[in-house]
Amino acid sequence: MSSAASERLETLFDSLWEAYAAITPAAARIHALLHARGESFRNDHVAFRTFDLAPLGLERLAAPFLALGYTPTGRYDFEVKKLHARSYSHPSGRFPRVFISELRTGEFPPVVREIAEALLEQVDPRALATDEAALTWAPTWPAPTLENYERLLEHSEYAAWLAAFGIRANHFTVHANDLRSVAELAELVELLRAAGERLNAEPSPIQGSAAERLEQCSTLADRVEWSFADGERASIPSCYYEFAWRHADAEGKLFDGFVTQSADKIFESTDVGAQTRRS
Ligand code: NI
Repeated sequence: MSSAASERLETLFDSLWEAYAAITPAAARIHALLHARGESFRNDHVAFRTFDLAPLGLERLAAPFLALGYTPTGRYDFEVKKLHARSYSHPSGRFPRVFISELRTGEFPPVVREIAEALLEQVDPRALATDEAALTWAPTWPAPTLENYERLLEHSEYAAWLAAFGIRANHFTVHANDLRSVAELAELVELLRAAGERLNAEPSPIQGSAAERLEQCSTLADRVEWSFADGERASIPSCYYEFAWRHADAEGKLFDGFVTQSADKIFESTDVGAQTRRS
Protein backbone atom coordinates (compact mmCIF):
# COMPACT_ATOMS: atom_id res chain seq x y z
CA MET A 1 0.00 0.00 0.00
CA SER A 2 1.11 3.55 -0.55
CA SER A 3 2.61 5.36 2.40
CA ALA A 4 0.08 8.16 1.83
CA ALA A 5 -2.83 5.72 2.35
CA SER A 6 -1.08 4.28 5.36
CA GLU A 7 -0.60 7.71 6.90
CA ARG A 8 -4.23 8.62 6.29
CA LEU A 9 -5.37 5.46 8.05
CA GLU A 10 -3.07 6.11 11.00
CA THR A 11 -4.39 9.66 11.32
CA LEU A 12 -7.97 8.45 11.03
CA PHE A 13 -7.63 5.78 13.73
CA ASP A 14 -5.72 8.16 16.04
CA SER A 15 -8.47 10.72 15.76
CA LEU A 16 -11.19 8.07 16.29
CA TRP A 17 -9.38 6.76 19.39
CA GLU A 18 -9.05 10.27 20.83
CA ALA A 19 -12.78 11.04 20.52
CA TYR A 20 -13.66 7.59 21.88
CA ALA A 21 -11.25 7.60 24.83
CA ALA A 22 -12.52 11.06 25.83
CA ILE A 23 -15.91 9.57 26.76
CA THR A 24 -14.70 6.07 27.71
CA PRO A 25 -12.58 6.27 30.88
CA ALA A 26 -12.48 2.44 31.13
CA ALA A 27 -10.63 2.20 27.79
CA ALA A 28 -7.85 4.55 28.86
CA ARG A 29 -7.66 2.82 32.25
CA ILE A 30 -7.41 -0.70 30.79
CA HIS A 31 -4.98 0.47 28.13
CA ALA A 32 -2.76 1.78 30.95
CA LEU A 33 -3.22 -1.43 32.98
CA LEU A 34 -2.05 -3.59 30.08
CA HIS A 35 0.85 -1.30 29.19
CA ALA A 36 1.99 -1.36 32.83
CA ARG A 37 2.28 -5.16 32.45
CA GLY A 38 4.61 -4.63 29.52
CA GLU A 39 1.99 -5.50 26.93
CA SER A 40 1.71 -3.99 23.49
CA PHE A 41 -1.19 -4.96 21.27
CA ARG A 42 -3.11 -4.11 18.15
CA ASN A 43 -6.77 -3.14 17.88
CA ASP A 44 -8.79 -6.13 16.70
CA HIS A 45 -11.61 -4.01 15.35
CA VAL A 46 -13.33 -0.66 15.61
CA ALA A 47 -17.13 -0.52 15.41
CA PHE A 48 -19.50 2.16 14.18
CA ARG A 49 -23.26 2.61 14.36
CA THR A 50 -25.54 4.56 12.04
CA PHE A 51 -29.12 4.92 10.78
CA ASP A 52 -30.11 3.56 7.34
CA LEU A 53 -30.71 7.14 6.18
CA ALA A 54 -28.94 9.46 3.74
CA PRO A 55 -26.47 11.05 3.84
CA LEU A 56 -24.78 8.90 6.52
CA GLY A 57 -25.84 5.31 5.89
CA LEU A 58 -23.56 2.30 6.24
CA GLU A 59 -22.04 2.69 2.78
CA ARG A 60 -21.06 6.28 3.38
CA LEU A 61 -19.26 5.24 6.57
CA ALA A 62 -17.52 2.37 4.75
CA ALA A 63 -16.32 4.62 1.91
CA PRO A 64 -13.09 5.92 3.48
CA PHE A 65 -12.00 2.40 4.42
CA LEU A 66 -12.70 1.01 0.95
CA ALA A 67 -10.84 3.95 -0.60
CA LEU A 68 -7.83 3.17 1.59
CA GLY A 69 -7.56 -0.51 0.71
CA TYR A 70 -10.05 -2.32 2.95
CA THR A 71 -12.07 -5.23 1.55
CA PRO A 72 -15.49 -6.56 2.71
CA THR A 73 -15.37 -9.76 4.78
CA GLY A 74 -18.95 -10.40 5.86
CA ARG A 75 -22.59 -9.40 6.20
CA TYR A 76 -24.59 -9.89 9.39
CA ASP A 77 -28.25 -9.60 10.26
CA PHE A 78 -29.61 -8.84 13.74
CA GLU A 79 -33.30 -9.54 13.47
CA VAL A 80 -34.48 -8.64 16.97
CA LYS A 81 -32.49 -5.41 17.18
CA LYS A 82 -33.54 -4.60 13.58
CA LEU A 83 -30.13 -3.85 12.19
CA HIS A 84 -27.62 -5.26 9.81
CA ALA A 85 -23.87 -4.90 9.58
CA ARG A 86 -20.86 -5.41 7.37
CA SER A 87 -17.24 -6.07 8.25
CA TYR A 88 -14.05 -5.06 6.46
CA SER A 89 -10.39 -5.99 6.79
CA HIS A 90 -7.19 -4.40 5.62
CA PRO A 91 -5.01 -6.89 3.71
CA SER A 92 -1.84 -5.60 5.38
CA GLY A 93 -3.04 -6.79 8.80
CA ARG A 94 -1.59 -3.55 10.19
CA PHE A 95 -4.93 -1.85 10.75
CA PRO A 96 -7.98 -2.87 12.78
CA ARG A 97 -10.91 -4.66 11.18
CA VAL A 98 -13.92 -2.37 10.80
CA PHE A 99 -17.47 -3.35 11.77
CA ILE A 100 -20.27 -1.02 10.67
CA SER A 101 -23.91 -1.55 11.59
CA GLU A 102 -27.01 0.29 10.43
CA LEU A 103 -30.42 0.53 12.12
CA ARG A 104 -33.39 -0.32 9.87
CA THR A 105 -35.48 2.66 10.96
CA GLY A 106 -38.46 1.68 8.78
CA GLU A 107 -39.07 -1.41 10.92
CA PHE A 108 -39.88 0.65 14.03
CA PRO A 109 -42.95 2.76 14.89
CA PRO A 110 -42.81 6.01 12.83
CA VAL A 111 -41.58 8.11 15.77
CA VAL A 112 -38.13 6.46 15.55
CA ARG A 113 -37.70 7.33 11.90
CA GLU A 114 -39.09 10.85 12.42
CA ILE A 115 -36.60 11.65 15.17
CA ALA A 116 -33.74 10.10 13.19
CA GLU A 117 -34.66 12.00 10.01
CA ALA A 118 -34.80 15.27 11.92
CA LEU A 119 -31.23 14.64 13.13
CA LEU A 120 -29.99 13.72 9.65
CA GLU A 121 -31.48 16.94 8.26
CA GLN A 122 -29.28 18.88 10.66
CA VAL A 123 -25.97 17.14 9.89
CA ASP A 124 -23.14 19.64 10.10
CA PRO A 125 -22.00 20.29 6.49
CA ARG A 126 -18.41 19.87 7.68
CA ALA A 127 -19.23 16.21 8.46
CA LEU A 128 -19.96 15.75 4.75
CA ALA A 129 -16.90 17.58 3.42
CA THR A 130 -14.82 14.39 3.06
CA ASP A 131 -15.40 10.65 3.56
CA GLU A 132 -13.22 10.65 6.67
CA ALA A 133 -15.05 13.65 8.15
CA ALA A 134 -18.24 11.56 8.17
CA LEU A 135 -16.54 9.45 10.86
CA THR A 136 -14.65 12.09 12.80
CA TRP A 137 -16.63 15.32 12.70
CA ALA A 138 -18.25 15.78 16.11
CA PRO A 139 -20.93 16.53 16.86
CA THR A 140 -22.39 15.00 13.71
CA TRP A 141 -25.72 16.70 14.44
CA PRO A 142 -27.07 18.92 17.23
CA ALA A 143 -28.02 17.01 20.38
CA PRO A 144 -31.64 15.80 20.51
CA THR A 145 -33.90 16.81 23.37
CA LEU A 146 -33.73 14.57 26.42
CA GLU A 147 -37.39 13.76 25.74
CA ASN A 148 -36.58 12.48 22.24
CA TYR A 149 -33.61 10.50 23.58
CA GLU A 150 -36.00 8.82 26.02
CA ARG A 151 -38.62 8.21 23.32
CA LEU A 152 -35.98 6.45 21.21
CA LEU A 153 -34.88 4.46 24.25
CA GLU A 154 -38.37 2.96 24.52
CA HIS A 155 -37.89 1.35 21.11
CA SER A 156 -34.15 0.89 20.61
CA GLU A 157 -31.16 1.35 22.91
CA TYR A 158 -29.07 1.54 19.75
CA ALA A 159 -31.12 4.42 18.30
CA ALA A 160 -30.93 6.40 21.55
CA TRP A 161 -27.15 5.93 21.81
CA LEU A 162 -26.66 7.00 18.20
CA ALA A 163 -28.91 10.07 18.52
CA ALA A 164 -26.99 11.27 21.57
CA PHE A 165 -23.42 10.57 20.43
CA GLY A 166 -23.59 10.83 16.64
CA ILE A 167 -21.18 9.03 14.35
CA ARG A 168 -18.01 8.04 16.20
CA ALA A 169 -16.29 4.83 17.23
CA ASN A 170 -18.76 2.93 19.42
CA HIS A 171 -15.95 0.70 20.64
CA PHE A 172 -12.36 -0.23 20.11
CA THR A 173 -11.26 -3.80 20.74
CA VAL A 174 -8.05 -5.25 22.12
CA HIS A 175 -6.67 -8.01 19.90
CA ALA A 176 -6.12 -10.26 22.93
CA ASN A 177 -4.01 -12.78 20.96
CA ASP A 178 -1.23 -10.18 21.12
CA LEU A 179 -1.10 -10.27 24.93
CA ARG A 180 1.83 -12.26 26.28
CA SER A 181 0.86 -12.31 29.96
CA VAL A 182 -2.45 -14.14 29.51
CA ALA A 183 -2.88 -17.54 27.84
CA GLU A 184 -6.60 -17.27 27.08
CA LEU A 185 -9.49 -14.81 27.23
CA ALA A 186 -10.70 -16.23 30.58
CA GLU A 187 -7.42 -15.12 32.16
CA LEU A 188 -7.92 -11.60 30.85
CA VAL A 189 -11.44 -11.63 32.33
CA GLU A 190 -9.95 -12.51 35.75
CA LEU A 191 -7.41 -9.74 35.40
CA LEU A 192 -10.10 -7.16 34.54
CA ARG A 193 -12.35 -8.28 37.41
CA ALA A 194 -9.42 -8.07 39.84
CA ALA A 195 -8.79 -4.52 38.63
CA GLY A 196 -12.41 -3.67 39.47
CA GLU A 197 -13.67 -3.32 35.89
CA ARG A 198 -17.36 -4.06 35.28
CA LEU A 199 -18.00 -6.50 32.45
CA ASN A 200 -21.05 -6.98 30.27
CA ALA A 201 -23.13 -10.18 30.73
CA GLU A 202 -21.69 -11.23 34.08
CA PRO A 203 -21.39 -13.90 35.40
CA SER A 204 -20.58 -15.33 31.92
CA PRO A 205 -19.04 -12.42 30.04
CA ILE A 206 -17.31 -14.46 27.32
CA GLN A 207 -19.35 -14.71 24.10
CA GLY A 208 -18.48 -17.25 21.42
CA SER A 209 -16.12 -20.19 21.68
CA ALA A 210 -12.98 -21.72 20.24
CA ALA A 211 -15.26 -23.84 18.02
CA GLU A 212 -16.71 -20.64 16.55
CA ARG A 213 -13.12 -19.41 16.30
CA LEU A 214 -13.89 -16.13 18.06
CA GLU A 215 -14.25 -15.37 21.77
CA GLN A 216 -15.21 -11.86 22.86
CA CYS A 217 -16.06 -9.95 26.00
CA SER A 218 -16.59 -6.30 26.81
CA THR A 219 -16.81 -3.81 29.64
CA LEU A 220 -20.16 -2.28 30.50
CA ALA A 221 -20.27 1.14 28.89
CA ASP A 222 -19.08 4.01 31.05
CA ARG A 223 -21.68 6.59 32.06
CA VAL A 224 -21.03 10.21 31.15
CA GLU A 225 -22.79 13.48 31.86
CA TRP A 226 -24.19 14.47 28.48
CA SER A 227 -25.76 17.71 27.24
CA PHE A 228 -29.06 17.58 25.42
CA ALA A 229 -30.95 20.32 23.58
CA ASP A 230 -32.41 23.13 25.64
CA GLY A 231 -29.57 22.91 28.15
CA GLU A 232 -30.75 19.68 29.77
CA ARG A 233 -28.17 17.25 31.09
CA ALA A 234 -28.31 13.58 32.00
CA SER A 235 -25.94 10.77 32.87
CA ILE A 236 -26.15 8.13 30.11
CA PRO A 237 -24.10 5.08 28.95
CA SER A 238 -21.39 6.05 26.44
CA CYS A 239 -18.94 3.52 25.02
CA TYR A 240 -17.37 0.23 26.05
CA TYR A 241 -14.03 -1.50 25.49
CA GLU A 242 -14.01 -4.94 23.91
CA PHE A 243 -11.56 -7.85 23.92
CA ALA A 244 -11.38 -10.44 21.15
CA TRP A 245 -9.47 -13.70 20.99
CA ARG A 246 -9.33 -15.25 17.53
CA HIS A 247 -8.67 -18.94 16.88
CA ALA A 248 -6.81 -20.42 13.93
CA ASP A 249 -8.19 -22.92 11.41
CA ALA A 250 -6.39 -26.14 10.39
CA GLU A 251 -4.06 -24.09 8.15
CA GLY A 252 -3.17 -21.80 11.06
CA LYS A 253 -5.11 -18.84 9.69
CA LEU A 254 -6.92 -16.73 12.29
CA PHE A 255 -10.67 -16.26 11.83
CA ASP A 256 -11.20 -12.85 10.21
CA GLY A 257 -14.96 -12.32 10.55
CA PHE A 258 -17.56 -11.95 13.29
CA VAL A 259 -20.14 -14.24 14.95
CA THR A 260 -23.65 -12.77 14.81
CA GLN A 261 -24.94 -14.27 18.06
CA SER A 262 -21.92 -13.04 20.03
CA ALA A 263 -22.06 -9.55 18.51
CA ASP A 264 -25.77 -9.45 19.35
CA LYS A 265 -24.96 -9.86 23.04
CA ILE A 266 -22.03 -7.42 22.91
CA PHE A 267 -24.36 -4.71 21.52
CA GLU A 268 -26.05 -4.79 24.94
CA SER A 269 -22.95 -3.33 26.62
CA THR A 270 -24.46 0.13 26.14
CA ASP A 271 -27.94 -0.77 27.44
CA VAL A 272 -29.35 1.58 30.01
CA GLY A 273 -31.04 -1.41 31.68
CA ALA A 274 -27.79 -3.35 32.02
CA GLN A 275 -26.26 -0.24 33.53
CA THR A 276 -28.98 0.22 36.10
CA ARG A 277 -29.03 -3.43 37.11
CA ARG A 278 -25.34 -3.38 37.83
CA SER A 279 -24.76 0.03 39.35
NI1 NI B 1 -17.07 -5.46 18.58
